[in-house]
Amino acid sequence: MKFKNTHKDSQTTDESIYVNRRKLIKAGIIGSASLLASNSMALSLPKATENSEFLIDELTSEKDATTYNNFYEFGLSKSDPVENAKDFKTEPWTVEVDGLCENKGTFDLEKLISNFSLEERIYRMRCVEAWSMVIPWTGFKLADLIKYCKPLSSAKYVYFETLYDPKQMPGQKGRSIPWPYREGLRMDEAMNELTLMAVGMYGKQLPNQNGAPLRLVTPWKYGFKGIKSIVKIKFLDKQPINSWQAIAPQEYGFYANVNPEVDHPRWSQATERRITGGFSLFNSRIKTQMFNGYSDYVASMYKGMDLTKLY
Ligand code: MTE
Repeated sequence: MKFKNTHKDSQTTDESIYVNRRKLIKAGIIGSASLLASNSMALSLPKATENSEFLIDELTSEKDATTYNNFYEFGLSKSDPVENAKDFKTEPWTVEVDGLCENKGTFDLEKLISNFSLEERIYRMRCVEAWSMVIPWTGFKLADLIKYCKPLSSAKYVYFETLYDPKQMPGQKGRSIPWPYREGLRMDEAMNELTLMAVGMYGKQLPNQNGAPLRLVTPWKYGFKGIKSIVKIKFLDKQPINSWQAIAPQEYGFYANVNPEVDHPRWSQATERRITGGFSLFNSRIKTQMFNGYSDYVASMYKGMDLTKLY
């Protein structure tokens, strides 16, 4: 499938930010390749190529994207993670692969990443709380990792877990959600070309508060599917229960597809507040698009499903 720019209708793109960014990348001032390589943090990552097919929309400022976060392991307020995750240790980092696959084991993240090619992709991200951002991610396709793991034909779902380490993650001392944080995707969703395992953003390694060193990005789903700081991946034959579904199944389903027609029981999902330059309650509201605007790439996976029930 060929990717194309689906952004036509919803709002005006700020060309100047877009063009400036392109210039900076060209000049080598920003860009995943240069900065990932020179980042002072521990992981040394292979070069990323820029996938211009994803360069859409006006970017959210790096400051907003890295200071307004949900990461309950580091506190319940949006401003907590940037403070409380400062000393979070992400190196060395291993990822355990388990379940219905041939290539099981515990893999060193840096070695694992060297098997895959990194790309930069700008994705619209839509949070269930009705705000949205546009973020340049650096990552590799989850599909590549899945192929590497050689799943059995009985594997129908991919399950993920975040690190459980209450000494480092103070939020885990409380019972806000069942720990460790858990997520899952159906195999076709996991294999979809949009599904990214992110290791960087804004041309740098992922900041701790955004899910370092490895997180999931599924841009047609609400943000809570984007599980952070992943340590475990397991292939299952049955649909797993994710953390939010475990607490409030009537509010948070397994699929979590962005859908303006299916409201959250406590608020509408028809519009969103796009956080671009800086965060403000006065940011204009825009209409939320079905599958966050990615219908061309994902709608076929949900044909025949009642999305009011399978939300
Ligand atoms: N992953 C873990 N481990 N813990 C969390 O609390 N919050 C989720 C998701 N991944 C969360 C998580 C929610 S609710 C959202 S909206 C996104 O991360 C937020 O990602 P961001 O802070 O990078 O914008």
